[in-house]
Amino acid sequence: MKVKIAPSILAADQADLKNEVARVEEAGADMIHIDVSDGHFAPNISMGPDTVKSLRNVTRLPLDVHLMIEEPEKFLDRFLDAGGDIVTVHAEVVDEKRLRDFSRTIHSAGKKLGLALKPSTTLPSWFQARLENIDLLLILSVNPGFAGQQFMPSVLPKLAESIKLVGDRQLEFEVDGGVDQRNAAQIVKVGATVLVAGASIFRKGDVKSALQEIRNVTDRTIREVPA
Ligand code: DX5
Ligand code: ZN
Repeated sequence: MKVKIAPSILAADQADLKNEVARVEEAGADMIHIDVSDGHFAPNISMGPDTVKSLRNVTRLPLDVHLMIEEPEKFLDRFLDAGGDIVTVHAEVVDEKRLRDFSRTIHSAGKKLGLALKPSTTLPSWFQARLENIDLLLILSVNPGFAGQQFMPSVLPKLAESIKLVGDRQLEFEVDGGVDQRNAAQIVKVGATVLVAGASIFRKGDVKSALQEIRNVTDRTIREVPA
């Protein structure tokens, strides 16, 4: 088993995204995390479908699109057409029915659907009933909107609880926000399968060694955790 590393380009140099993505691809990133916020769901405005489209042309890595927006139904198709491979929507703005509709659209396009929870949001009552519709659960470990915030360890029990509920079903468990070289081991021990990392990769000077350091920690931790 291998834990995936998804650098978040929200923390990258926005004037140099092409090269930033090339650097993490070369360093062995597993996918590129793209944070989309609309100034309503999260108090910041970031990238849109055109950014996804441009990045699709410069990397072979899967594009992991995290929609921190109030009306994902209005933009889903555009992010799929732009080349998003995983599109994650927030549980705070979808209900069971909408999630099922998203699942139909996304899966018929051969893409993957993620469900995200803000730090203060508990697992929805319908989570288990809709498990077949999602491929990934994103546990946000900072409040949405900005890179470079402090990891909130208080989300880890929610991660553990969801892993238990999911049981044998194949689902990615992605932890997003404040992940770094020091706390990665603790998060992987609880059972995360994807680590998103922004500032701890792009704002460390040497992108390559920053990513590789996280990789060393995850590899070492996986070896130590009893199967
Ligand atoms: C928060 C975003 C995160 C964040 C990750 O709104 O969803 O993806 O940018 O960046 P770091 O790792 O710097 O917290
Ligand atoms: Zn994110």
